[in-house]
Amino acid sequence: MGNNSYIPHVQDSPSGKITQGRKVVIDIRDLRKSFGENHVLNGFHLRLYEGENLVVMGKSGSGKSVMIKCLVGLMQPDSGYIEVMGREVNTLDQAQLDALRADIGFLFQGSALYDSMTVRENLEFPIRRHREKLGNVSDTEPLVMEALENVGLAHTIDLMPEELSGGMKRRVALARTLILKPKVILYDEPTSGLDPITAKEIIELMRSIQRKYNTSSLIITHDVDCARVVSERMVLLVDGINYAEGTYAELSSDKDPKVEAFFKK
Ligand SMILES: Nc1ncnc2c1ncn2[C@@H]1O[C@H](COP(=O)(O)OP(=O)(O)O)[C@@H](O)[C@H]1O
Ligand SMILES: [Mg+2]
Repeated sequence: MGNNSYIPHVQDSPSGKITQGRKVVIDIRDLRKSFGENHVLNGFHLRLYEGENLVVMGKSGSGKSVMIKCLVGLMQPDSGYIEVMGREVNTLDQAQLDALRADIGFLFQGSALYDSMTVRENLEFPIRRHREKLGNVSDTEPLVMEALENVGLAHTIDLMPEELSGGMKRRVALARTLILKPKVILYDEPTSGLDPITAKEIIELMRSIQRKYNTSSLIITHDVDCARVVSERMVLLVDGINYAEGTYAELSSDKDPKVEAFFKK
């Protein structure tokens, strides 16, 4: 690997200090994806370093979800190199992809709970699917409780999703993501559709989980407030490329018009 040339990192800048000497857990290089004449990703690069919170911000329709789908092998890119925790995604067979996905937590846009299952059953679902990873546990209750306690919802264990508010559902979905103790968590628009107070709660939870388990998080959002609170470092996705990178402070004072446009109220 050792290709450090793609991003003009200034090593003594604030964002350069954050990444210095850290292990790379996700490496995306020159990712390209078009749908007919719609050229969505045109050479996108990204590196997620161990233990960091990286926000990818882009306007609606800019290709954020396409990028994350390519990352987990749900969508085939036209070209580019994608490596997640040392594994090159495009070379994996189905079994290897499943194993990789057990190490990645997703909280996808509108992450749905199964309506016909209780909260407990929703949380047991990934445990059953990835039993080997957890050493074939027979008693799932402690795992379910730990995950629910992390999101402050232990008391909802026997409720049905319809008995929960929108914010609570999102928190249960986050608990379900956490139950396999993922090393990397991918959040696609974690606060979209939530009122500002609930959105803030979710952001607080993301931060506390990150500190507790030292996960590496890739957070995709168009929400500037979310980016400001949660990010250590940010990448702006514009015109299908990683147009600008830096800390919130660095980017919000950038005078480039395409960068400024994100921070105008
Ligand atoms: N499966 C698909 N087939 C055709 N076009 C798609 C598909 N998925 C996404 N697109 C297009 O790619 C662009 C980026 O979509 P998306 O990644 O969902 O945007 P966002 O940044 O809002 O997540 C949009 O123009 C969308 O219409
Ligand atoms: Mg999207």
